[in-house]
Amino acid sequence: MRAIEFAEYGSPDVLRPHDVAVPEPGPGQARVAVRVAGVNPMDWKLRGGAMADVIPLRLPHRPGLELAGVVDAVGDGAPVAVGDEVFGWARTGSYAEFALASVIVRKPESLSWADAAALPVAGEAALRGLRLLSVGAGDVLLIHGASGVVGGLATQLAVARGATVIGTSGERGAETVRALGAIPVRYGDGLVRRVRDTGLRVDAVLDAAGFGALPDSVALLGGTERIVTLADPAAFELGITFSGGEPGDQNTGVLAELGDLAASGRLVVRHAAAYPLSEAARAQFESAGGHSGGKITLRVG
Ligand SMILES: NC(=O)c1ccc[n+]([C@@H]2O[C@H](COP(=O)([O-])OP(=O)(O)OC[C@H]3O[C@@H](n4cnc5c(N)ncnc54)[C@H](OP(=O)(O)O)[C@@H]3O)[C@@H](O)[C@H]2O)c1
Repeated sequence: MRAIEFAEYGSPDVLRPHDVAVPEPGPGQARVAVRVAGVNPMDWKLRGGAMADVIPLRLPHRPGLELAGVVDAVGDGAPVAVGDEVFGWARTGSYAEFALASVIVRKPESLSWADAAALPVAGEAALRGLRLLSVGAGDVLLIHGASGVVGGLATQLAVARGATVIGTSGERGAETVRALGAIPVRYGDGLVRRVRDTGLRVDAVLDAAGFGALPDSVALLGGTERIVTLADPAAFELGITFSGGEPGDQNTGVLAELGDLAASGRLVVRHAAAYPLSEAARAQFESAGGHSGGKITLRVG
């Protein structure tokens, strides 16, 4: 089968197509014929080597954390059957024609392949961030990166819970943020003043961007307690919660919830681009630019 791998850390050019063996599912696993693979910032952070100390990879490495596709073979006790249309987290890289998976659920019929492949990583992170912050009705929540994939999903989920959301974006993302039901504020110098100019007092902060907005967040809240970042390692020095997820956070309940919300139109994934598998390097390059304006996916099957 065709798969994208890299044998050394480096620029997107290290991503190369290879003919590799089709993986065999073990107990509890399914082999999925991948239709769409999601591209995430984690993919290029790992490829670039910046995280090699924290998450060392065995090279060659096949990227891809999430997938949507059709079950093609199952191991003993797999949670799905051959022929099922599924989505979820990949155990072997999803930048491939086939990948193994165990935390997967059936895809709601009305959910597109692209939406299904876009939900696991970003959707789980958005739900987790709101859970850790106990966001509920009446809260004023500041979301850094509301124009991004994770921030955009978190914005919709928080608004649906009755929170008022102030969402940061660049110049071009303001309309997107407004359409999601939030009050748009431009990120960058002067953020504290612009947030205060909304006339709202911030109760909690979710950083889904990771571009140095934690000190401003502390200034706005007057403390560190109700701040969670998904992306800024400065959190460790500032005594702020950095959430990368705990074992068990990636579960089928979360997938079912996300699938149901998206299939019923209560959660909308904004898509930026879909590339063929062979253009994985271009897809990661675009994601790493930081302003893709939506989800980037790879069309595989
Ligand atoms: N910890 C976890 O479990 C977890 C899970 C998933 C993702 N993440 C992390 O969360 C982050 C966002 O992921 P994503 O998939 O949502 O990425 P994304 O779609 O590319 O979103 C990036 C966001 O960052 C904003 N941004 C870009 N440059 C900025 C700057 N200089 N200052 C402030 N904001 C800026 C973008 O705004 P504009 O587009 O408007 O410029 C956009 O809102 C990534 O770092 C990712 O690794 C963490």
